[in-house]
Amino acid sequence: MKHFNFFNFGFASYDPVPDQEEASTPEYRDDKYLTSEQIHAVASKKPNLILWYVLTSVFATLATFFFVQNMQMRRRGGFQTGYSNELVLATPAIQVSQVRFTGGIKFHDNGTMYRDTGPGTQYVGRPSPELDAAWDELIGTRYLAFTDRQKSAFDVEISRSNEDGLYRAGPDVFHSLHCVDKLRRTIDGYLYQISEQVDETYQNILHIEHCLDFLRQLVGCSSDLTPIPLVYSIGAGFPVPDFEQLHTCRSFESIRKWAMKQNEDALRTI
Ligand SMILES: *[C@@H]1O[C@H](CO)[C@@H](O)[C@H](O)[C@H]1NC(C)=O
Repeated sequence: MKHFNFFNFGFASYDPVPDQEEASTPEYRDDKYLTSEQIHAVASKKPNLILWYVLTSVFATLATFFFVQNMQMRRRGGFQTGYSNELVLATPAIQVSQVRFTGGIKFHDNGTMYRDTGPGTQYVGRPSPELDAAWDELIGTRYLAFTDRQKSAFDVEISRSNEDGLYRAGPDVFHSLHCVDKLRRTIDGYLYQISEQVDETYQNILHIEHCLDFLRQLVGCSSDLTPIPLVYSIGAGFPVPDFEQLHTCRSFESIRKWAMKQNEDALRTI
């Protein structure tokens, strides 16, 4: 067996001692000691240059790769740190964790289809004041106040209010949620035949079209790669999508808390 001798002084890789030498120097039989010949033999061995070259190249390639990746991260940002086009002031509020989605369409064993509402606050279903209140609570103040000093954190044009001298902007997540709520209210009017909720004015149609087209872009933009597997359902008698998968999410609750505090703090300065 060829002994690997990378550093050229590793005691673990010395060559076996010839039998006659063992016999002639019995006082060095203890494994802990090397004879002067052994040390000389080890020290005079040539280093394995090819291995040096290969490992140095691998190291250099990896270092370059991580350097470039780090530079890109700094320039463009990331999901956990915030992207460079995002609201910089909100990035400390980003908390990423894995969350299992709820609300899947399922089948009872007798073949009846149902929606598994899951635990917690409900946001869809038969219209009620409670549902509307849940949405209002979720979205809160969509356009938050920012002070004159905080304005420098924005890369985009933003107008100063004539009334209180503050600037207003909102993270897009609030606008997107508002769009979902807008669609919900309009669709519910038709689904549950609530004529007073049906709004076919030109303005509402524009609004609905805007929301649909906006959400299309948003969903494509995040291109979530979480797999939705088809799993055989006894009740359905065929494989059905299992939507309730783990997703990697930014905590909306954390962003919402930051947003409400930002708005209150800015308002307190006037
Ligand atoms: C099927 O089963 C579910 C749950 O046990 C039940 O609520 C439902 O009424 C059943 N449907 C029919 C058509 O029997």
